[in-house]
Amino acid sequence: MTEGDEPEYALEMARVGKRFGANWVLRNVDLKVRRGSIHAIVGHNGAGKSTLMKIALGAETPTEGEVRIGGRRLTFARPAEARTFGLGMVMQERSLIETMTGIDNLFLNAELQNALGCVDIRRERAEIDQLTRQLGIRPSSLSLRVSDLSMIERELLEIARALRLGNQVLVLDEPTAALSRDEIGKLFEVLGIIAAQGTGIVLITHHLAEVFQVSTEVTCLREGKVTLSCTTQDTSMAHLIAAMLGQREEGQSGSKGRVVEEGHDVPSRAAAGGGERTPALTVRHLRVGTTLSDVSLDAFAGEILGIAGLAGSGRSTLLRTLFGDARPSAGEIRLEGIPYRPKSPSEAIAVGVFLIPQDRGVHGLVLSKSIFENIMLVLLRRLSNWLRFLKFSDGRKDARRMIGALDIRGVGMHQPVNELSGGNQQKVVLAKALTLESRLLLLDEPTFGVDITATRAIIMQVRNLADRGAIVLWASSDLLEMTSVCDRIAILRNGIVSAIIAATERHAFNERALWAAIERS
Ligand SMILES: Nc1ncnc2c1ncn2[C@@H]1O[C@H](COP(=O)(O)OP(=O)(O)OP(=O)(O)O)[C@@H](O)[C@H]1O
Ligand SMILES: [Mg+2]
Repeated sequence: MTEGDEPEYALEMARVGKRFGANWVLRNVDLKVRRGSIHAIVGHNGAGKSTLMKIALGAETPTEGEVRIGGRRLTFARPAEARTFGLGMVMQERSLIETMTGIDNLFLNAELQNALGCVDIRRERAEIDQLTRQLGIRPSSLSLRVSDLSMIERELLEIARALRLGNQVLVLDEPTAALSRDEIGKLFEVLGIIAAQGTGIVLITHHLAEVFQVSTEVTCLREGKVTLSCTTQDTSMAHLIAAMLGQREEGQSGSKGRVVEEGHDVPSRAAAGGGERTPALTVRHLRVGTTLSDVSLDAFAGEILGIAGLAGSGRSTLLRTLFGDARPSAGEIRLEGIPYRPKSPSEAIAVGVFLIPQDRGVHGLVLSKSIFENIMLVLLRRLSNWLRFLKFSDGRKDARRMIGALDIRGVGMHQPVNELSGGNQQKVVLAKALTLESRLLLLDEPTFGVDITATRAIIMQVRNLADRGAIVLWASSDLLEMTSVCDRIAILRNGIVSAIIAATERHAFNERALWAAIERS
């Protein structure tokens, strides 16, 4: 680059290494993000993706190597340095304050001041105008509280906030995790517009299909090292998976690029059992708020029942109601024939019902405690005092087994959870629920944010739990994955269960037919 030219790269990272204690989590990483490009970063949970980008943001200091933003070298002397050079990031742990409005979130700790040191409302207005136009945000939505916004509105608000701080480089750490298919389309449209204006975009994702949908370049990390970096058109799904897993190409396919086959090979016990079996869970005419008006369904012991529907169709509300975290205004629920009306999650847990919520960061973990303690905590709460003593060693064995089964990667089971990567934290929440031996396990988007290997492990563990006689409700927006996991899938539409489709109905139990059933108006 000659003096005065625009640099070709928005972000350049050279020979970056990072060590936590004795543990090297990044080694000799080179990454170059072109201006105007969308550069995907992929890799298993704990591969180092978020840490690498936190270094670019100046939130972590590298042990080795250097970083340039728009050609200017970071000194890591000041935390705000990367932002002044033009890098904005939407972190994996989202940071909006739910009780504040969009506008307040946008300018939080970054108000614009005029010469007198007061908030410069005129300039703020002008910025808001520009950002809402650029990102296609409804201006009126900005005066609502974040808790009243849809997931895509929240995501765009996070992006607006990141862009305000820097428009050389925009980093998005798993932005699609909580979005529906339509919302992801909208997000990608917006990213295309931002890139076209010259910003270099870094997109971290576990959904390999997204890599091919939007990115122009892709870099893969494995155990802190770059195993592949090329233009997207020069690679394939199989290559990427091989680079992630460190094995020869496996020729896997699926919506995450996973080992997910459409359709269901094993005739499930629940489906095979036929009509004479008594359902272990019955829900009749359930009404909750304005989302669910009249939901009825049956689920059998040993069954994984999928709950599908568009965003906002009430999937999460249904699960939360069964967990005592939302109150129905009408209807009846029975567990093994006995009326069940939990007034709180602790009442639900006491009878063996457990929920893994979609928003796991908030609900799931005591961050300062270790992996082991987090898993044991919930086990111990379930047991009376004398049983605690007897069961502790059993519990310890179970916890160990589950940490191994889900491949929770840290330096050891006594590592505090806040030192784990995002996906590994999610695995701890799942391990907790799976160790519990619930009677009814409610899973809300159980594979969000976890990598291919862990997804496979989770599916297997959930199937094992069902085989031991539990009822599992699996709510998800990933229909392809559901067809490989579930025995039957209930479709929620307009506040009711509009259809229940069994794996045995081959013509209807595939991604396309399910979409049609969900979207039919
Ligand atoms: N503050 C910390 N102290 C110790 N180790 C840490 C700390 N932060 C991250 N690590 C470790 O660094 C490694 C990389 O973590 P990172 O969060 O970058 O992974 P990731 O690729 O983003 O994974 P995921 O897909 O799960 O989000 C992990 O082994 C993690 O445990
Ligand atoms: Mg991460």
